[in-house]
Amino acid sequence: MDSNCITLTRFVLAEQKKAPGATGELTQLLNSVQTAVKVISSAVRKAGITQLFGTVGSTNVQGEEVKKLDVLANELFINMLKSSYTVALLISEENETVIEIETEKRGKYIVAFDPLDGSSNIDCLVSIGSIFAIWKKSDNSVPTLADGLKPGNEVVAAGYALYGSATMMVISIGSGVNGFMLDPTIGEFILTDKDMKIPQKGNIYSINEGNTHSWGEAIKEYINNKKDPAKGKPYSARYVGSMVADVHRTIKYGGIFMYPPTESAPNGKLRLLYECIPMAFIMTQAGGVASNGQIPILDIQPQKIHERSPIYLGSPDDVNEVLKTLQKYEKRQ
Ligand code: AHM
Ligand code: MG
Repeated sequence: MDSNCITLTRFVLAEQKKAPGATGELTQLLNSVQTAVKVISSAVRKAGITQLFGTVGSTNVQGEEVKKLDVLANELFINMLKSSYTVALLISEENETVIEIETEKRGKYIVAFDPLDGSSNIDCLVSIGSIFAIWKKSDNSVPTLADGLKPGNEVVAAGYALYGSATMMVISIGSGVNGFMLDPTIGEFILTDKDMKIPQKGNIYSINEGNTHSWGEAIKEYINNKKDPAKGKPYSARYVGSMVADVHRTIKYGGIFMYPPTESAPNGKLRLLYECIPMAFIMTQAGGVASNGQIPILDIQPQKIHERSPIYLGSPDDVNEVLKTLQKYEKRQ
């Protein structure tokens, strides 16, 4: 046992000390997220035994079936964040409208989250995750919808939890990316992946290839090139179908993850506020690139809380290559 191990709480406290004028509110907020993640992790590990698999028989705001674990994870995020006295407004994938915090419990932060991402993988034991981004409200006024529509370049912290073969939290408070593995024997997240950096170039592409028929010509050409031995050593295809797992692998091994527009989803499938922005923040902090095909994800001004965006993110060389291909086709039009 390491008698001087760096827990996530210790790490965040040390970061807080470095920030002049910090009040400790962000530390408190991140602690409440940690608690939610620990309970979700435990529920995920026992779900098959405790009858937590399956649906609750309703659909969410996106028209998708709601799973029992989705509901539990959402309630945990909301309850832990509300009771942290640090948040003013919450935006959840599972709630149609923003959640305003009552005056007595209100703090200065805004949190957007996907409490359990990759729902289609729950019942077959494939990795799933939670994703969150945190913004600060500019003043003490009553929170409005506009407070919840801040761009990614104003994020103060973001992260994800991966419920994989182990549970891991990866976070950035704007000064690099650090990964913490949950030690279930002590119930603490321990720093295992210090200052994570994505390789400049990888050899893996990650995309739902079943949608090939409905991609634009640029994506078809890019993916074809990645498989053509005449264009260099072919890339490997890896696609979990859980964004957290696919993005985590992309940071660790390099390569590219994409969800481009398709016929049925002209803006892509993934949601800007609680999927694309947090992952783009982490990716950028890890030295990678995240774009919607035209501009950096972090520069997009959100218009609606559940809006979607195409996303291309990963190693700089790989993402820049796909962006170049997209531009080439745009010029031809
Ligand atoms: P969810 O929020 O309903 O779980 O959907 C988001 C997930 C992402 O984790 C993943 O990248 C994507 O949907 C996979 O979509 P598809 O099945 O269309 O490839
Ligand atoms: Mg999701």
